[in-house]
Amino acid sequence: MTDTLRAAVIGVGVMGQHHVRVYREMPGIELVGFADADDTMCASTAQRHHVRGYADYRVLLDREQPDLVTVAVPTILHLEVAREVMERGIHTLVEKPLADNERDAQTLIDLARARNVVLAVGHIERHNPAVKLLKSYLDEGRIGTIFEMRAERVGPFPARIRDVGVILDLATHDIDILCHLAGSPVTRVFAETQQNIHSTREDTVSGLLRFENGVTGVLQVNWLTPTKSRRLLINGAGGQIEVDYITQDLTFYENGDVGDTFQNLQLLRGISEGRHIREKVSKREPLRLELDDFVGAIRDRRPPLVTGDDSLRALRIAEALVRSGQSHQVIQVAGG
Ligand SMILES: NC(=O)c1ccc[n+]([C@@H]2O[C@H](COP(=O)([O-])OP(=O)(O)OC[C@H]3O[C@@H](n4cnc5c(N)ncnc54)[C@H](O)[C@@H]3O)[C@@H](O)[C@H]2O)c1
Repeated sequence: MTDTLRAAVIGVGVMGQHHVRVYREMPGIELVGFADADDTMCASTAQRHHVRGYADYRVLLDREQPDLVTVAVPTILHLEVAREVMERGIHTLVEKPLADNERDAQTLIDLARARNVVLAVGHIERHNPAVKLLKSYLDEGRIGTIFEMRAERVGPFPARIRDVGVILDLATHDIDILCHLAGSPVTRVFAETQQNIHSTREDTVSGLLRFENGVTGVLQVNWLTPTKSRRLLINGAGGQIEVDYITQDLTFYENGDVGDTFQNLQLLRGISEGRHIREKVSKREPLRLELDDFVGAIRDRRPPLVTGDDSLRALRIAEALVRSGQSHQVIQVAGG
């Protein structure tokens, strides 16, 4: 492998456009081409970024021989396209979720292993600097025992997403983050879902996740809200931490003088408010960090920050939430 790595993007819609832009900004990377089945999209992207566009991604792969590829086609096509890429021995970043079902995700994970290529998945919030700071806060025990984690990801309906519902499309971000932070498997889930705008799938979910270590995860995710909000609240013995994914702000609302143990908290009478600490987060574009990590994994022959197995775990829990929404039952999750 030469020093400069040859990159390509397949699918240059809303997300793929950003991959094209960021690869072009990265030192040590040459964006050698992209593919998109839509002629108009192909022409406008080629013109804007001065890079060769192909209607057929197989032709792109044959002619340009990239070392690494981002797959950013609609989720139902991830299996078909990512399989074709990895079978050629090319390192692959698949946008999230890895596939639209567990079996296909497992097929891609097995293929990456068999072909010895890096498989990264675009669960971009893991690269969000505020989330990284939050994780170090929790690892340092700043908030003590965690009781509950609440994720809110709401906004207007994106008419282009027709292949999957809001649980697979959006809630997989939050499921992945909650699993990462809880550090414990999910054992059961329950969801109330609604279908208001989407023609075939759920477009709102209120979900509950129970982790083996006793932490409760709460999800409020929808495509029904006029304003976009992406927030995470962690409640623990030492207080509450709030992360705003969009602004990359982290605020720690300390409990009053109660220390950080549950016993101390139990002695508390009434409300006690402590300091509000607004942390300085050094803000960076999460996609740039994600692609830097992907390239670093290829160069250093190490796993990426978010692996295929991580995405499979999120997908398993997402599918359980979908089933719960349909059956109105609590669903036990094995290997969550
Ligand atoms: N990480 C994130 O925050 C994030 C955000 C948005 C979307 N996504 C993911 O990115 C993927 C794409 O979503 P989007 O919002 O960009 O969708 P989109 O519809 O805007 O873009 C998909 C593009 O793929 C092209 N395409 C379809 N079939 C193709 C084929 N066979 N060959 C080549 N191109 C083909 C379409 O023409 C379109 O331009 C999805 O998996 C989605 O979940 C991730």
